[in-house]
Amino acid sequence: MRRAVCPGSFDPITNGHLDIIGRVSKLYDVVHVAVLVNPNKQGMFSVEERIALIEEVTAQFGNLVVESHHGLLVDYCRERGIPAIIRGLRAVSDFDFELQMAQMNNGLTGVETLFVPTSPTYSFLSSTLAKEVASYGGDVSHLLPEAVHRRLVERIAERKAEQ
Ligand code: PNS
Repeated sequence: MRRAVCPGSFDPITNGHLDIIGRVSKLYDVVHVAVLVNPNKQGMFSVEERIALIEEVTAQFGNLVVESHHGLLVDYCRERGIPAIIRGLRAVSDFDFELQMAQMNNGLTGVETLFVPTSPTYSFLSSTLAKEVASYGGDVSHLLPEAVHRRLVERIAERKAEQ
């Protein structure tokens, strides 16, 4: 079985993530979509919610394993026999940090990182920007899977009602 992992925060999954995951799912027998938990970051969605959303919007691919991981990405890969980490590159500005992480991860365990260029349609898109625009009432419905957009709008309304 040829395995790879698409790791990320996925808070929440966007059409940019979905594009990369869908393309990579054609190249490998099994693709792990790993939600890495950052204990220092309070997300818009809980890890369980992020996983549920990813499962809902990726059901068509059929060869994905969606799960969370606390700790180092290299340990996740080692425990599951995954030799390749996939990261989408949106622009040159992504490259510096991605290269650092790839070299650190390779030095730790020998795991390889493969970069996949994002579709130009989504080269400006991040979960952070989508959340910010949506929180001010901007329309991001074309940037998120429909179910994710619906949940994001609901969550923003819930947060505003609490204030
Ligand atoms: O979606 P993101 O936030 O760009 O994903 C970054 C992520 C989660 C892949 C990265 O922060 C990560 O690998 N975190 C796990 C902890 C770890 O292994 N850190 C060392 C990286 S060299």
